[in-house]
Formats: sequence, C-alpha cells, structure tokens
Amino acid sequence: MITVMRLGHRRGRDDRISSHVGLTARQFGADKIIYSGEKDTNMMESLDDVIDRWGGFFDVEYREDFRRVIKDFEGLKIHLTMYGEPLDEKIDEVKRKEEDVLVIVGSQKVPREVYEMVDLNIGVGHQPHSEVAALGVFLYELEDREIKQGFEGADVRVVPSEKDKLMEEG
Ligand SMILES: C[S@@+](CC[C@H](N)C(=O)[O-])C[C@H]1O[C@@H](n2cnc3c(N)ncnc32)[C@H](O)[C@@H]1O
Repeated sequence: MITVMRLGHRRGRDDRISSHVGLTARQFGADKIIYSGEKDTNMMESLDDVIDRWGGFFDVEYREDFRRVIKDFEGLKIHLTMYGEPLDEKIDEVKRKEEDVLVIVGSQKVPREVYEMVDLNIGVGHQPHSEVAALGVFLYELEDREIKQGFEGADVRVVPSEKDKLMEEG
C-alpha cells in the first residue's frame, strides 16, 4: 500500500496544487493521501467529488499532527526533497523492501526534523521544481513505469482519440 502525505497545506494559496498532488497520487498508483497543515474541507470535498466521478479506491484524509503520522507509520518512510539522495540510486532499494510506503512531499519550507524522521530522503534531480512533478516521477518509477488504467466504478471514462475529446458515461 502506498500512502502520500502532503505537508503544510495553506487554504486558498495551495488549493490547486494540493488537489493536484492528490490526483497525481491516485493516477500513479497510491492508495491514499493525507493532508496536514491547514484543514481545508472544501479542497478535500472537491477532490472527493472528482474521485467519485472518475472511480477507483482512493482515500483522502486530514491529520493535524504530521509527526504522529510519520512516527506511527509501519513501513518505509520516504521524503522527496531536492537535497536528498538521487532517485536513480535509491529506487531499487525502495522496491526491494516490499513494505508499505509513506511518501512525503512539502509545500513551503519542510521542518528539519522530517529529514531525520524518515528512512530515506530522495531527490528527483537536485534542482527546485514541484511536489507534483517529484511525486509523479517517483511513483512512476516505483510502479515500474506502469501508468494505471481503468478505475473501478467510474461514471465517466475517456475514449482515447487522436484529435477529439471523447468521453463515455455510465
Ligand atoms: C516548491 S518545493 C519547496 C521546497 C522548500 N524550499 C524546502 O526547502 O523544503 C515543494 C516540495 O516539492 C518537492 N520537490 C521540489 N523539488 C524537488 C526535487 N528536486 N526532488 C524531490 N522533491 C522535490 C519537495 O517535496 C518540496 O517540499
């Protein structure tokens, strides 16, 4: 099972990117997202609405105390940061462990203690970019470059097309 935790959500300022972290987690094989920072019922409800419509099993949860989440998690704890060890060098180690995985991404400055609390700090490159990009690339590698298709119980589906925007419902 893969759980993603998004640290330090700020209502208003981070709505769009935080919901994109959730959608990216779902598309690339995670089972659950935990938000910490400011509680944002609207953002989480609109994410739930999208998930209901597009199907699959994906949990969305808020936890005020991110330290408790990290401490209590039973499995491999990974923090994505540009300061971490290179993804290419660490991904095989992560895959070998066959444990539940907690993948942590930040928003603004991540508290120093997070670097100490996790098993691995991993960089997706060593340039500053985005939590969405870092998470997408990390999960893509973790899931052996398989992009998840088919989400159970979807109300809508895309019909892939060369030029048109085709959808089917029901
Ligand atoms: C916009 S960045 C802000 C980082 C912040 N300046 C800090 O020092 O923690 C937000 C998040 O994107 C992720 N991120 C950005 N660049 C990354 C990289 N090169 N590798 C891995 N994660 C990255 C990290 O999880 C980071 O906390």
